[in-house]
Amino acid sequence: MLRKIVVVGLLLVFTHFMTCVQIFAVDEKELEKQSNLIAMLLVSCRAVIAQNQDLINDPEIGDKGFTSDVYISKVKEHFKNSAGIEISEGDASSSDPVAKSLGTLLISTKEVINELQRTINKKGKEYKNVIPAIVGRRTSYKYSKAMGAGYYLKQTSMKYRNPANHPDTFETVVLKEFEKPGYQKGKGIGRVVPYSNRVEVYRYLLPVYIKTPCLKCHGGPKGRRDIAEKIKEGYKEGELRGAISVMIPYPSE
Ligand code: HEC
Repeated sequence: MLRKIVVVGLLLVFTHFMTCVQIFAVDEKELEKQSNLIAMLLVSCRAVIAQNQDLINDPEIGDKGFTSDVYISKVKEHFKNSAGIEISEGDASSSDPVAKSLGTLLISTKEVINELQRTINKKGKEYKNVIPAIVGRRTSYKYSKAMGAGYYLKQTSMKYRNPANHPDTFETVVLKEFEKPGYQKGKGIGRVVPYSNRVEVYRYLLPVYIKTPCLKCHGGPKGRRDIAEKIKEGYKEGELRGAISVMIPYPSE
């Protein structure tokens, strides 16, 4: 009798344990998907700025017609093509955390381009500091503030130009993993980590690599100045430049 109780008891404990494992596994897959979408939307914002860089930098034209509405429609299109999801600003008030994050990010980046209209439309000036990295940083900052505690978004690198982008301990560990020989290119890494007293968060990094257009500022010769008067790092095409870092709250049981 006693043996039977023990066996049944053990079985119950085991089933409970397996269910927990399963719940956690599902959660983390879901959180990885969420974080990846947020990072991908920031990549879309950066890409649309890069695609319109010549227009933004044109010293001959005053009004560029690159309004926040024009910009945002291009971002939505880029994101639809890369992630296969249609998003809108209205999603910011959704009860679904993923839609809410994406909608809030869209509104944040729209506000950034709205604030930059005077700079963008300045005639007679070529370099205006309106580039993917700066739009990306300002967008991330607005988004993190709007989403509140447990959320953040950032562009980071081991060779950071802006001290505001310097990697923290977690980001440093992951960036080093990305740099390991044989690491699968383009694959993000996500983990549940402690945040504050008994609170955990899910953190995720999506690697960013050097492509031809990046070389103008981040390429060689190392130590020379780029068009923004900043020091070039001497990167080569294909090298890891850094990552987009995402943090989202980890749902407690
Ligand atoms: C016009 C020059 C220019 C080009 C082209 C450029 N960058 Fe940058 N990049 C900058 C500047 C300036 C910063 C610092 C931005 C800031 O103040 O946050 C920066 C910052 C970054 C950062 C954040 C880490 C840091 O150094 O502070 C990443 C990641 C990055 N760039 C990736 C890229 C990639 C990838 C490309 C090509 C797709 C690219 N950049 C093209 C000028 C450029």
